[in-house]
Amino acid sequence: MSGPSAGRPRPTRNQDMDWDEWPVQDYLAENYRVLHPCDAAVIRHHSSFYRQFAPGSIQRSLEFGAGPNLYPLMLAAAASRRIEAVELGAGNVAYLTRQLREGPDESWQAFYALCRRLDPALPPALTDALSRVQVVHSDARSVARGTYSLASMNFVAESVTEDLDEFTEFCQSFAASVCPGGHLVASFMENMPSYRIGKASHWPGCPVDRAAVYRAFAPCTERLTVTRIDADTTLPDYGDTGMVLMRGVRTRRSSPAGPGTARSPMRHLESPTPSSG
Ligand SMILES: C[S@@+](CC[C@H](N)C(=O)[O-])C[C@H]1O[C@@H](n2cnc3c(N)ncnc32)[C@H](O)[C@@H]1O
Repeated sequence: MSGPSAGRPRPTRNQDMDWDEWPVQDYLAENYRVLHPCDAAVIRHHSSFYRQFAPGSIQRSLEFGAGPNLYPLMLAAAASRRIEAVELGAGNVAYLTRQLREGPDESWQAFYALCRRLDPALPPALTDALSRVQVVHSDARSVARGTYSLASMNFVAESVTEDLDEFTEFCQSFAASVCPGGHLVASFMENMPSYRIGKASHWPGCPVDRAAVYRAFAPCTERLTVTRIDADTTLPDYGDTGMVLMRGVRTRRSSPAGPGTARSPMRHLESPTPSSG
């Protein structure tokens, strides 16, 4: 009568949540109204990734699950001529659209100053950098495979489900969005369980570490590097132990598994060897 999961609640999956209810202003207040040290570290990591590309050399790039965070879009703006910010939640889409139409909130200027100090190829004005961005209201997993030459994902796969299989599916969808040889950069909360934003809103999280990120991407990437940074005590306590940062190139050998195909065991990855960091 009872299997191994008897008595355990079913993990919350992405479609169980109403992403239109995402608390945009609380999330911004907790995370992005000032430049926290952890985001400065993410910006340094991602900026070094973007500086490998000549300005304007990427025709079309993706921000997978953009949320209301403008700094990944800033970072992409020197390399990429068109940045598609794909996001499911209506409140986040409305915020992004307003930021592009009416100009960014003043608090983003400190982020842009750091991005530009690290990459002088960025235009002097943040509004010019953001003029390359198109907002797309959609499930990011539905973007056509192989569409982009570069994709970025920040705090999404591990922050939108409690199900480790679905985390892997999100990572593989993200990887599949770029063409073979396409470039990937991402960040993840480390070991973060389901979390709260503001006073009362609860969201599904899936604790992952460097090894889990390595396992998710190793089958479909080359030149994969996975590093980490310590928890930032200036942020609310989300139960995390820090952040995991990855970059890689979608393999030319074989295509990554599409959504829904990530459940088969990856026996050749039983002993992942993440790079140190
Ligand atoms: C923790 S937030 C991260 C937001 C942003 N990337 C950042 O760096 O702060 C997770 C985001 O994923 C979005 N999201 C959840 N499920 C999604 C899906 N299936 N497709 C696209 N976006 C999704 C949520 O609405 C939310 O904006």
